[in-house]
Amino acid sequence: MLPAYLPNPVAALVGGGTPIDLGKNFSDGKRVLGDGKTYRGLILGITAGIGIGLVQIVLYGTYHLALPEHTVMSVFLLATGALLGDVGKSFFKRRLGKERGGKWPVADQYDLVAGSFLLVLAVDPQWLFANMTIPIFVAVLILTPLLHRVVNIIGYHLKVKEVPW
Ligand code: CTP
Ligand code: MG
Repeated sequence: MLPAYLPNPVAALVGGGTPIDLGKNFSDGKRVLGDGKTYRGLILGITAGIGIGLVQIVLYGTYHLALPEHTVMSVFLLATGALLGDVGKSFFKRRLGKERGGKWPVADQYDLVAGSFLLVLAVDPQWLFANMTIPIFVAVLILTPLLHRVVNIIGYHLKVKEVPW
């Protein structure tokens, strides 16, 4: 899951600049996505996720570590899906009238899981079913909110996150 987990914290660390929605409002008068979703965060976050995945592929090939059998495609899909899930969540968050950084329990924690899994399911289902066994899936469901909380508290204290969630 590293290629899916890394993009969000990297986006928080290095994001900023031009928002993806270019500052535009949706038909409901609220921002389409908000200032928390930027091109720099999206592109550098996905790049970081792909980068860590390529390292995993090389390590697996060299040392035969007990890592999942990643492919360039699986790594790309997990990293991209994670941040597309994040963007999709922000779209619906704005429609619900929640401000940037507002709390939306469950969605805030699982957006990256939904986005990454759905993209892999759509493009490379064979990889998903070969590698995402039920126990691994259950572990992902348990670990994700815990990691999310810990990383966001760290990010808040480092002042790269405005809120600790
Ligand atoms: N970020 C970014 N570009 C992205 C995703 C995140 O620049 N595509 C940066 C922003 O600085 C953002 C921070 O990472 O504020 C934390 O991300 P996140 O918690 O997802 O955004 P929020 O500010 O909480 O906004 P939202 O309410 O839309 O989730
Ligand atoms: Mg947020």
